[in-house]
Amino acid sequence: MNGLAPSGKMRFIAVAVILCAGYFCSPVFAHPRGEWTKLILTQHWPQTFCSMEHCKTDLGNWTLHGLWPNTGIRCNTSWHFNASLIEDIIPEMERVWPDLLEPSSPKFWKYEWQKHGTCAAQAESLNSEHKYFSKALELYHKFDLNSVLRNNKIVPSEKYYTLDDVETALTNFYNVKPKIQCVHPGKGGQFQILGQIEICVDRDFQLMNCEKSTEEIWSNDMSVSGQSALSVCDQSMPVYYPPVPSRS
Ligand SMILES: *[C@@H]1O[C@H](CO)[C@@H](O)[C@H](O)[C@H]1NC(C)=O
Ligand SMILES: *[C@@H]1O[C@H](CO)[C@@H](O)[C@H](O)[C@H]1NC(C)=O
Ligand SMILES: *[C@@H]1O[C@H](CO)[C@@H](O)[C@H](O)[C@H]1NC(C)=O
Repeated sequence: MNGLAPSGKMRFIAVAVILCAGYFCSPVFAHPRGEWTKLILTQHWPQTFCSMEHCKTDLGNWTLHGLWPNTGIRCNTSWHFNASLIEDIIPEMERVWPDLLEPSSPKFWKYEWQKHGTCAAQAESLNSEHKYFSKALELYHKFDLNSVLRNNKIVPSEKYYTLDDVETALTNFYNVKPKIQCVHPGKGGQFQILGQIEICVDRDFQLMNCEKSTEEIWSNDMSVSGQSALSVCDQSMPVYYPPVPSRS
């Protein structure tokens, strides 16, 4: 399905063979401590993000937040972000991975690269800035969250959905469980706001289930104010999928 899978597999075999030369020969050792086993492709709904962070956007598509390995953070602080290495994909980055706080600034990409990209780069298939960002764009298009929701009649609207509506649409299409996150209301609130959706893949970029709680920590990733209110949506509360304000 994608050209990078074979090299991922070869790497796995190479590591296993080397370890088998020692006195332990266990697949448990195939991924040494600290190496990630899962990538989380995270997309957010710009309207919800901007309601939390006080920005303004007229974007009506889900956009990328990040591509995060399940372990590791700031793995190589001397590997600096250099925008000129991804010059050829910047126009597309601006469309699907915009910095909603500071449009036309590379700050968000720099932040994501330093925090997560340098860890993802442990894998040969992602061991350059260009490979990392291109892979995120590739997965974004491949999974096509915008169409999956739309085709299942989950569209931004003034009416509410159940979490089950959203979950079923995604699970039926991807055949794995994504993680769906909402902004929760304050005390006495009646609905939660759909905010972020995570889709998980293994080291060969094949879909796998996201788990509910273990990576909750990453949800705070971009909250500049440090008070991200996103967490896994509540099964029993109506889900609001905020429409794009009409231009006047
Ligand atoms: C959303 O994405 C689709 C296809 O990727 C594009 O045609 C459309 O213009 C985008 N819509 C908005 C509001 O950005
Ligand atoms: C960290 O990144 C620098 C710059 O790309 C590289 O030279 C160095 O080998 C990396 N260190 C590790 C431990 O990967
Ligand atoms: C960024 O990458 C370009 C292209 O490879 C290179 O010419 C330039 O020196 C790099 N800039 C820095 C600050 O490393």
